Amino acid sequence: MHFTGTACITRLILGLGLPALALSGSSAQVLTSEAQLHSSYDYVIIGGGVSGLTVANRLSENPENSILVIEAGDFDQDEDYIIIPGLAGGAIGTKYDWNLTYVPNPDAAGRAPSIPQGKAVGGSSLLNRMVFDRGSRADYDRWRALGNRGWGWKDLLPFFKKSETFTPPTDEIIAEWNATYDPSVHEHFISALTGLGIRIPKDAASGDAVGLYFSPHNQDPVTATRSDARRGYWEAASHRPGLSLLAGRTATRLITKLTPKGPKVIGVEFVSSKCKSPTVVKVGKEAILAAGALHTPQLLQLSGIGDPAILAALNISTVAKVPGVGRNLHDHVYVPVVFNFDFPLTAANLTSNATFAAEALHLYNTQKTGPYADATGDFLAFLSTDSFTSQTDTLHKLANSQHPSTYLDADTPPSVKRGYAAQHKLLTAGLAATNQAQVEVLWADGTFVIGLQHPFSRGSVRPASSTDPLAAPLADAAFLRNPIDVAILIEAIKFARTVAHTPELAAFNPVELVPGAAVASDTELETYIRGAAESLFHPSGTCAVGKLEDGGVVDAEFRVHGVRGLRVVDASVFPVLPAAHIQSSVYAVAEMAAEAIKSS
Ligand SMILES: Cc1cc2nc3c(=O)[nH]c(=O)nc-3n(C[C@H](O)[C@H](O)[C@H](O)COP(=O)(O)OP(=O)(O)OC[C@H]3O[C@@H](n4cnc5c(N)ncnc54)[C@H](O)[C@@H]3O)c2cc1C
Ligand SMILES: *[C@@H]1O[C@H](CO)[C@@H](O)[C@H](O)[C@H]1NC(C)=O
Ligand SMILES: *[C@@H]1O[C@H](CO)[C@@H](O)[C@H](O)[C@H]1NC(C)=O
Ligand SMILES: *[C@@H]1O[C@H](CO)[C@@H](O)[C@H](O)[C@H]1NC(C)=O
Ligand SMILES: *[C@@H]1O[C@H](CO)[C@@H](O)[C@H](O)[C@H]1NC(C)=O
Ligand SMILES: *[C@@H]1O[C@H](CO)[C@@H](O)[C@H](O)[C@H]1NC(C)=O
Repeated sequence: MHFTGTACITRLILGLGLPALALSGSSAQVLTSEAQLHSSYDYVIIGGGVSGLTVANRLSENPENSILVIEAGDFDQDEDYIIIPGLAGGAIGTKYDWNLTYVPNPDAAGRAPSIPQGKAVGGSSLLNRMVFDRGSRADYDRWRALGNRGWGWKDLLPFFKKSETFTPPTDEIIAEWNATYDPSVHEHFISALTGLGIRIPKDAASGDAVGLYFSPHNQDPVTATRSDARRGYWEAASHRPGLSLLAGRTATRLITKLTPKGPKVIGVEFVSSKCKSPTVVKVGKEAILAAGALHTPQLLQLSGIGDPAILAALNISTVAKVPGVGRNLHDHVYVPVVFNFDFPLTAANLTSNATFAAEALHLYNTQKTGPYADATGDFLAFLSTDSFTSQTDTLHKLANSQHPSTYLDADTPPSVKRGYAAQHKLLTAGLAATNQAQVEVLWADGTFVIGLQHPFSRGSVRPASSTDPLAAPLADAAFLRNPIDVAILIEAIKFARTVAHTPELAAFNPVELVPGAAVASDTELETYIRGAAESLFHPSGTCAVGKLEDGGVVDAEFRVHGVRGLRVVDASVFPVLPAAHIQSSVYAVAEMAAEAIKSS
């Protein structure tokens, strides 16, 4: 369902679109038609992904609450590419993907990097690669340092714990793991890095996520299948009488009413497809936006909540002036460095050798073991600046010499500039710190995936059109706009080369395939980086928590500034990315949001 062209949505006045029917049948929590809707729900949650289903589960613990989840995508059908860990990521580009791209980026050789986003009950947790890690204490303490009470590491830790059922690696799993991979490959990578002075924290999940660590995965240890927001949060709650979900419906607008205390959300408008008339459900208490970091700001803007200049350019009249909506978009950007080593490559065999793949699938189906029983990315290195380069001082000075606004969009409002200046100061200090990571080096079969963890560049999300709410948003992650981001990646590529040529790995005759040893000078490396950079799929920050005067969109209780009855609970609210794959942080933040909603 990816529409282009002119819109044919006609607006309805609240209340006219909807027969107020009671639910028919007793177990129909998954609604299949508009006729089954109540006219009003206490809470209407927009987006049934990681954050939306987390909040839906927690709010429905109280049987008094009536809750409707509106999800644009459908239920998955237990497809292999969703449930089998070894095929993780296989849902990218299917009907469960919004299939978005960022806008063409002059700082990335004019390319438009693709940015998959889940479109299904479970959201991006069905597409993701199942790496389930946390950032460092310092990453989350930065959120509090930006002025957000209750958003530090200590505050979040209980919610990290609440959202996971941790299975320690038992002897059985260790045995299984040994059976799955050639341990020598990992051993040599580990000893190559430890030989270069990289430490191994005791438990990276304790807030000490700098160094080398094995990462858990969101996986059911018994069935060896993906554990995701649908299976972890929805299915556990789907029998609760107060909770309903309508899939295949895209929210197109929040309906607001001006009250003496300011605008208030009283309804949510949605459509089943482009040319169907919209339906409106009434909101008794709150609308909860959980549509992800690219669609949530778009929906706010289409509803008149945002920067008046952006809205006016689209002929949208301003309901609430919240200049930070859609600003501060940032994402983890990566470049690959690819070597050929003389050791067997399991992943390559799975794709290139049909016999091997068939044997592996049989092993998985009968015994839940073998290469398909595990997702990739089990072994991660998160490195502080001093651990991968001797240029810490130079990088720190470069950041320190910048005026924080230089690389922001020209039309950035003053409040957003002020908020970013505070971020820039903390990011600059972080460059010289040892308690937080600046790059991730993910090792997979001879490829070093080098991910920038604390990008300085910031972009934006804006609607493409005010008349077609189903048009994809114009999202610009502004990859590599700030030259400091390029300078860090240049040093990290040099480090990957150093690792490949340590005695431990040199024994396997490394031959650099990409970018190739001939790409040597900083200028050549910069050209490579700009031509190759892609997303690690962690867009965030577009409705950041913070004070309105600092460009914040939500307060510390997740309420949108200046609008009553409206919260944002998804990855949009992160003010600054943590150095980690972010799903566990999204779950934890959504758990915290549910608590805030329940206690208000
Ligand atoms: C390909 C891929 C790989 C990833 N790999 C990892 C990984 O290995 N480890 C990790 O930690 N993180 C990973 N992530 C990131 C992680 O999955 C996301 O950060 C997380 O799911 C974000 O949660 P969310 O609630 O903000 O959004 P989502 O989980 O994306 O949920 C948003 C939901 O809202 C729905 N929606 C959007 N607009 C509307 C609308 N207008 N009306 C109704 N519904 C709407 C969407 O269809 C979607 O279901 C990956 C992400 C992707 C895309
Ligand atoms: C996703 O987009 C690509 C190109 O942008 C296109 O080739 C592909 O068919 C699209 N997939 C879906 C499922 O829409
Ligand atoms: C796993 O492999 C390592 C390295 O080969 C070996 O020392 C260890 O005994 C193995 N563990 C199990 C449980 O087989
Ligand atoms: C805004 O409205 C004016 C007047 O109706 C129209 O001329 C203009 O094209 C519209 N602009 C956009 C971006 O829709
Ligand atoms: C496939 O696996 C076999 C057995 O482990 C190994 O010898 C071979 O090198 C692998 N092939 C590739 C292309 O990696
Ligand atoms: C393909 O896999 C089979 C089964 O594991 C193996 O016997 C064969 O050697 C492999 N072929 C190649 C070219 O690696």
